Amino acid sequence: MDKLVSLAKRRGFVFQSSEIYGGLGSVWDYGPLGVELKKNIKERWWRSMVHERQDIEGLDAAILMHPKVWEASGHVSGFTDPLVDCKHCKNRFRADDPRIKGTPGQPDGQCPVCGSKGTLTAPRQFNLMFKTFMGPVEEQAAVIYLRPETAQGIYVNYLNVLQSSRQKIPFGIAQIGKAFRNEITPGNFIFRTREFEQMEMQFFVKPGTENEWFGFWREERMKWVEGLGIRAEKLRWHQHGPDELAHYAKDAYDIQYEFPFGWQEFEGIHNRTDFDLSNHQKHAGKKLDYLDPKTNERFVPYVVETSAGADRTALVVLCDAYREEEVRGHEAAEGEGGGGGGDQRVVLKLKPSLAPLKAAVFPLVNKDGMPELAHRIHDDLRRHFNVFYDDGGSIGRRYRRQDEAGTPFGITIDGQSTQDQTVTVRDRDTLKQDRVAAGKLVEYLTQKLAG
Ligand code: GAP
Repeated sequence: MDKLVSLAKRRGFVFQSSEIYGGLGSVWDYGPLGVELKKNIKERWWRSMVHERQDIEGLDAAILMHPKVWEASGHVSGFTDPLVDCKHCKNRFRADDPRIKGTPGQPDGQCPVCGSKGTLTAPRQFNLMFKTFMGPVEEQAAVIYLRPETAQGIYVNYLNVLQSSRQKIPFGIAQIGKAFRNEITPGNFIFRTREFEQMEMQFFVKPGTENEWFGFWREERMKWVEGLGIRAEKLRWHQHGPDELAHYAKDAYDIQYEFPFGWQEFEGIHNRTDFDLSNHQKHAGKKLDYLDPKTNERFVPYVVETSAGADRTALVVLCDAYREEEVRGHEAAEGEGGGGGGDQRVVLKLKPSLAPLKAAVFPLVNKDGMPELAHRIHDDLRRHFNVFYDDGGSIGRRYRRQDEAGTPFGITIDGQSTQDQTVTVRDRDTLKQDRVAAGKLVEYLTQKLAG
């Protein structure tokens, strides 16, 4: 994991937030390549969940919501983790931290950091929502929360969307947006952070049909994840046991990935029943039921939720793409070990359509008409793709830098190019080179980037 974190910084994927001030705990910033990668993942999600479906509408609800939303949703009372403090070293832990020996609050409870016995407090519930104040007065009445999930913005807008889009149940609402949780034990890079992005879809169905839809969405979501190019053996399902279920869920399945730190969830599919809509109906005093135009039945819809973290999905994609390899063939023979030295290379084998940069353009040398032609090709290509121009250092070093960035194609303009207007296109994964007419590059790349 350390190697990936270091590559992410070196190549401009992810930086620690406020680094020059020593960093802010478990908050991360996306650099030039990271923002492109995450955007490609989010766009892929949006395309498959909204644009390619007639029964799902998009939404972008505000992060700040009426405080009663969080009472109705159960987050004020139920979105808590049990927390213990060490009175000696002042560290805080989740009460179920596996490193704790003995029982917190009892003489045998032992702090996993300083090793003191009997210094851990008894567990107390700690709410994970961030509080802030609305308006100039810092009083209880003005307390609002940063949303801990995007889903509630969908529930409170469910009738607005239903009526304005003229959808009929079953139908869904999808949203991508920031969520915030004051996690007690965040960590593992962008895996568990205090500010993150979710890609959530709530599918509203007739009660009694929720199991069928639950199965349907589990299959759909796994297909989407596989479409990211993730190795199948690194993916598995995990069904929540009764003690793992969130306060709103009757049934839940996680899609897990085998990260370097073990199997962990990055997406959940939840049967939320009518828990949220019924509670909002009660707390807001507004009817949120649905009149079925065919049967004339009235019911509060059940909800099947698909909830993915954009950051965690980006981490899955990065972990799965990261490889250290021996370079064989002509690149090794030419001794172009570059950045890493020797014939080793670090490469991100990202699916080309997810890669932040689609191609890099290299004039072999900075003379003999090569830079002029390379600039012309770069200008032409960047009207279609995110393309990088690099004329610094040996060609081998330039290849290695782009391998680390996950750029699938390297376009080299050499002596022959100025004679016959052809270039070489190097494939990041196979290291094979094709000779392609400069005028056909857009077509060539479009074909290779599909999927
Ligand atoms: N609306 C349901 C919900 O929020 P969740 O299982 O708590 O369910 C869904 O979160 C997804 O959001 C997780 O699978 C994960 O990808 C992402 N997520 C949750 N907490 C996170 C955190 N602290 N940091 C990064 N991603 C997080």
